[in-house]
Amino acid sequence: MANEIKYFELSTGAKIPSVGLGTWQSQPGVVGKAVEIAIKVGYRHIDCARSYGNEKEIGLVLKKLLDDGVVKREDIFITSKLWCADHAPEDVPVALHQSLEDLQLDYLDLYLIHWPARLRKGAVGMNPEDFVPVDIPTTWKAMEALYDSGKARAIGICNVSTKKLGDLLDVARIPPAVVQVECHPVWQQTKLREFCKSKGVHLTGYSPLGSPGTAMYKTNVLKHPVIVTTAEKLGKTPAQVALRWGLQTGHSVLPKSTNESRIKENFDVFDWSIPDDLFAKFSEIEQERQVTGNFFVHEKFGSYRTVEDIWDGEL
Ligand code: A2P
Repeated sequence: MANEIKYFELSTGAKIPSVGLGTWQSQPGVVGKAVEIAIKVGYRHIDCARSYGNEKEIGLVLKKLLDDGVVKREDIFITSKLWCADHAPEDVPVALHQSLEDLQLDYLDLYLIHWPARLRKGAVGMNPEDFVPVDIPTTWKAMEALYDSGKARAIGICNVSTKKLGDLLDVARIPPAVVQVECHPVWQQTKLREFCKSKGVHLTGYSPLGSPGTAMYKTNVLKHPVIVTTAEKLGKTPAQVALRWGLQTGHSVLPKSTNESRIKENFDVFDWSIPDDLFAKFSEIEQERQVTGNFFVHEKFGSYRTVEDIWDGEL
């Protein structure tokens, strides 16, 4: 079917599968099973991060699936992220190698700077006393070296404003191939999306369902009347509609689930589409950023005195 939208092409020439399994808040003990179910259902993209604390368990499952021939390495797309305590240039390759070791892989398809924020090396948790000023250009050079080495086949950054992405593009030798940011119908990233399009940077949306049940997400995206009405009209679930909206908008999505039926439901978004008249209604949805990054704001420590500083006013 012409309208399937199974992949998007990155500036590197690689294809990023449009629906990936999110693993943030996937608990140890269940995340491995979720990855196994997802790959068997047809997911080819697993979004990981060192800070999620579950890469070892994911690695055990990936190794088994690869060894058993369920899937080939070249057919899956594995992402991980550089944590804020590893921004020093000499720590960047060490952090990547730790993720590779835990995931039992030789290379990552994508390595992302997790936040434009920095913590003291060795910091455990996110205590303000550990906040130190961030220096993205310096960390980016170390990311570029990983790209050169082939250990990270694409590099990018998460949680950036349009300005911060522009500043990075101004100094980058290897431009970021991907930005991964909060994106769902209630925070559509219209400005960043247009900028990404003009610069050939692919946008991936995290929390594509609005992370229902997570305290910092104030709005229940899946209960929004536009989504509920669209779902009823199309005979789909609100989650499927939210994900399909993302694909039709032009970005990849990373729904997290550890529940077998919801993992399957979230992948059933390819052989139908939201018609134009219903799709147009999404642009009328009132916008509200849910992840404010306020946990990186401090009057004295780190780079950000206010939430506006983090997003350069894009709130
Ligand atoms: P669970 O893991 O029990 O399925 P997001 O991807 O936006 O961060 O949202 C993840 C949250 O949404 C998790 O709490 C997950 O719970 C829940 N979730 C995942 N898929 C669905 C779905 N199809 N319908 C409703 N909730 C879902």
